[in-house]
Amino acid sequence: MIKIAMTGLAVACALTLSACGSDGGAEHAAARDNATVPARLPAGNVDAGRALAAKGSGSVAACVSCHGAEGNKPLADMYPKIGGQYADYLAHSLQAYRAGTRSGGTGAVMAAQAKGLSDQQIADLAAYFSGVPTQLRDLQEAN
Ligand code: HEC
Repeated sequence: MIKIAMTGLAVACALTLSACGSDGGAEHAAARDNATVPARLPAGNVDAGRALAAKGSGSVAACVSCHGAEGNKPLADMYPKIGGQYADYLAHSLQAYRAGTRSGGTGAVMAAQAKGLSDQQIADLAAYFSGVPTQLRDLQEAN
């Protein structure tokens, strides 16, 4: 089966050289890279993210008012630590809160925050919070 698929691929390459040449490879690599960027967000700006996290903007409250300094000193148990979390995960979460697809529990609190965020702001916040020292631990370390 695999052999047949490979033969098919070789034939396809022979027929459409551009799709399998160096350009095609670059295209595939780009597609792979994009797959790790949630919904193709623009590049994040750490300084803009830091400022937004500290001060908020419009309907968006300062992130640190609940998640604490650098996202690592939550003011209450219901607020998770977010400092040092993977940028992809942060951005995905913020997009999901904004879209309303991440809800339940205390999700409504975050949905209210994320509603006012632009793609650029999400990218900036993800860039900033992913870059601060992490305090994330697995359960064994936490106990
Ligand atoms: C009013 C308090 C409050 C503010 C302000 C706030 N958050 Fe949250 N945040 C929460 C709560 C509560 C949760 C847990 C929600 C849930 O149960 O899904 C949360 C969850 C999150 C999560 C998911 C964490 C995880 O581990 O899955 C991210 C990411 C996040 N917040 C980022 C932010 C950012 C960025 C800002 C600033 C734009 C912000 N939050 C502002 C209360 C807040």
